[in-house]
Amino acid sequence: MIRKAVEADCMSLTALSIQVWLHTYATEGVSDDLAREALSTFTPGYFHSIIADPDYRLFVKVDGANLLGYILLDLDSRCAEENYGGVEVDTLYVQEHFHGRGIGSALLDHAIDNAGNRLWLTAWAGNARALAFYGSYGFVDIGTAWHEFEEQKYENRILAFRRG
Ligand SMILES: CC(C)(COP(=O)(O)OP(=O)(O)OC[C@H]1O[C@@H](n2cnc3c(N)ncnc32)[C@H](O)[C@@H]1OP(=O)(O)O)[C@@H](O)C(=O)NCCC(=O)NCCS
Repeated sequence: MIRKAVEADCMSLTALSIQVWLHTYATEGVSDDLAREALSTFTPGYFHSIIADPDYRLFVKVDGANLLGYILLDLDSRCAEENYGGVEVDTLYVQEHFHGRGIGSALLDHAIDNAGNRLWLTAWAGNARALAFYGSYGFVDIGTAWHEFEEQKYENRILAFRRG
């Protein structure tokens, strides 16, 4: 089932995030930089504050007591590409064991049903799987954004989706 995240999810959200993040971005092994970014970004305290913040909506996909994936929406984020409204998909993570079973699409469907017909997001240009996934869902590429961390710059694609 997909439901709103609650306080009790914070530990599993943290663990799943670090696992998925490292699997996606540490494709040449785990460098100190990447380890620092993963461990400083995803903490139980971060998820506690997200759940308490009315500008965010966090939905989890669970099987009984187990977390399989989640989607985090930022209702207050402006798209860098001019004149595009809508809600930002800040994070969409599905645990690797459950990829290809429709969970990512179901979380996006749920986001649209709950937060409106227009979504946008940024995805790392090197994340071919995510770009293929969003393209097959119906997102279109509307521009470039740069993610900067510790003096490194990473190209991101800006993708947008509109239902109806
Ligand atoms: C991207 C991600 C969320 C997709 O979730 P998922 O649950 O595996 O996706 P779904 O099963 O809902 O896939 C739906 C459709 O997307 C497409 N798709 C999914 N994975 C794909 C891949 N590796 N290559 C090409 N197309 C793909 C398929 O068309 C699929 O439809 P199908 O069921 O007819 O095959 C998941 O792979 C993930 O968490 N990746 C790691 C984290 C990440 O990169 N998140 C996005 C950051 S911007």
